[in-house]
Amino acid sequence: MNSTSVAVVGTALGTPTTRREGWEKVTGTARYAAEHTPPRCAHAWPVPATVARGRVTAVDTTAALALPGVIAVLTPFDAPRLGPTDDPQLHVLQDTVVPHHGWYVALAVADTLEAAREAAQAVRVTYETDPDTPHDVVLTVDHPGVYTPEKANGGYPAHLEQGDAATSFAASPVRVECTYKVPPLHNHPMEPHAATAHWDGGTGRLTVHDSSQGAGPVRTALASLFDLPEDSITVISEHVGGGFGSKGTPRPHVVLAVMAARHTGRPVKLALPRRHMPAVVGHRAPTLHHVRLAAREDGVLTALAHEVTTYTSRVSEFVEQAAVPARVMYAAPAHLTTHRVVALDVPTPSWMRAPGECPGMYALESAMDELADALGLDPVELRIRNEPATEPESGHPFSSRHVVDCLREGATRFGWSAHRASRRDGPLLIGTGVAAATYPVLVSPCTARAHALPDGTYVVEVNATDIGTGARTVLAQIAADALGVPLDRVTTAIGHTTLPEAPLAGGSSGTASWGWAVHDACTALIARLDRHEGPVPDGGLSASADTRAHAKQRSPYARHAFGAQFAEVQVDTVTGEVRARRLLGVFAAGRILNPLTARSQFVGGMIMGLGMALTEHSTTDPAFGDFPESDLASYHVPVHADVGDIEAHWIEEDDKHLNPAGGKGIGEIGIVGTAAAVGNAFCHATGRRLRELPLTPDRVL
Ligand code: MOS
Repeated sequence: MNSTSVAVVGTALGTPTTRREGWEKVTGTARYAAEHTPPRCAHAWPVPATVARGRVTAVDTTAALALPGVIAVLTPFDAPRLGPTDDPQLHVLQDTVVPHHGWYVALAVADTLEAAREAAQAVRVTYETDPDTPHDVVLTVDHPGVYTPEKANGGYPAHLEQGDAATSFAASPVRVECTYKVPPLHNHPMEPHAATAHWDGGTGRLTVHDSSQGAGPVRTALASLFDLPEDSITVISEHVGGGFGSKGTPRPHVVLAVMAARHTGRPVKLALPRRHMPAVVGHRAPTLHHVRLAAREDGVLTALAHEVTTYTSRVSEFVEQAAVPARVMYAAPAHLTTHRVVALDVPTPSWMRAPGECPGMYALESAMDELADALGLDPVELRIRNEPATEPESGHPFSSRHVVDCLREGATRFGWSAHRASRRDGPLLIGTGVAAATYPVLVSPCTARAHALPDGTYVVEVNATDIGTGARTVLAQIAADALGVPLDRVTTAIGHTTLPEAPLAGGSSGTASWGWAVHDACTALIARLDRHEGPVPDGGLSASADTRAHAKQRSPYARHAFGAQFAEVQVDTVTGEVRARRLLGVFAAGRILNPLTARSQFVGGMIMGLGMALTEHSTTDPAFGDFPESDLASYHVPVHADVGDIEAHWIEEDDKHLNPAGGKGIGEIGIVGTAAAVGNAFCHATGRRLRELPLTPDRVL
């Protein structure tokens, strides 16, 4: 499989190419944010609030400061004041209000990690709580604080309505009305969030290694918070061990590390303990779904209503846009999608792989399965009959939409039959399920630079981030392709704010955004080389690109990636354990630029979807207001033994309405639809519909 070092001129794109940093990673020489240790580096350990709603009235640091090696303890009463930020979560230690359990209320700094941790534990915090307004962390659909926001995450209108859903629904011969529940879910990248900050008081320069999906936005936030010019700050995110969205925005750890470095005059390292993460790095908010589908007897939809209720924090508004995918997937004369939200005493939710689409498509695709059951129709066929000619919400033509091809290709590969039967094998019930998937095509403006060196090699520079996806590899492929040179002649420099400005790794848009600028810089470089007479000079030749003009243009096309997911599950009638024996995903995501790393992304997304279906969940504890499932011992992500036979395939799409490399983005589409496919297979196996995730034995039995 690994015949990938053979580089052929001009055909780097589309070939399976191993990761450029793979060797460094497996040998341990790749250094992550917490693995940089400047001389005299100190360690910081934050103190989380132990109440979910209240005020800090006193912080006793005496015992902490008396411990050997302790340098400082910062509290809301004495921490340095910060400048403005548009994210109040970053205004850490700036006031005494405690908006949720786990909010940071102090920071210990010491010579060693152990001393910092011990000092943090020795800090005594006194809180004032009001018995008349106890904390409130439990989401209910009829919570008195529920309101309809203007916008949901991503800038989507929260509410859209065409026709009269209620009337259409009542008048239709076949109807399903269901509620689904997705619990809070947490981003648990392999590498917890970490930063090492080095403040040079002499030069006024700040250097920060941060585990982030975008060093640029981190630098911008730090410049404002610490009142520094951006060009005096360098943020480096060279190797990042996953993020899933939780590292897509600057997080409090990096602010605390810089604050401590400036305060103590020492470099400071802050590596978040995993148990802190659920409260301070965002999470997927729980969603309550009310879905109504009505159809004619032939299965064609006459009404679709998807109403989502979710929560946000009291710190800022984040509304999981879970009804948005219904606007893309299926048309109906009466179409209603809406979001309602309530601000509770919980940590602010945020991006987690396919925010909106992931929980939304769980509900919608489960409801489609229920409708297929009600109609006595094959669920693949039901989806084919409801394939819209144009994007339902906008009426725009799709740049490409191969849902039906994914369903058909998947059905063939999976051995799906319209007359499939569930079966029993001893105590096991075995069934199959299907679901569709969608994720939008996003792209952001980006800049890049390409250099030609006298030895015939090239260097491409762009402040992209490789969060484990293979970004630096695929950017080299894009460059080699544009330059028409073998892949091994191209080096990529990424993950550093001294490089040309680039957007973060998020929204499945990294390769499209960075790759566009890389492509343009390489094309400009070729033109420059063509004009140049004689050999490339010692200093090399360079060209730059800036995609601001075209990446911001609105496309007349609706652009989305699509897919189909198939699952075979077994349900143990004795233990209640559900296992996925087979998972198959078929995706249509534009041109696949590197089949090797793309497959990993698809499969990784599907495995994360499997976790959502079967094991992952947390609860907002009504008594204490925290998430009790705060570590990997209690928050169960799938392990190797949980994953059965898993396959990802794709339809080759030649879509001219995207970007020069032709990819739609592959980071998130893989998770979308997996949980619905597994849930639908569970129902097929058992004849019972469970409408709350995950499908744990307590619910199954
Ligand atoms: Mo992803 S949730 O857009 O980082």
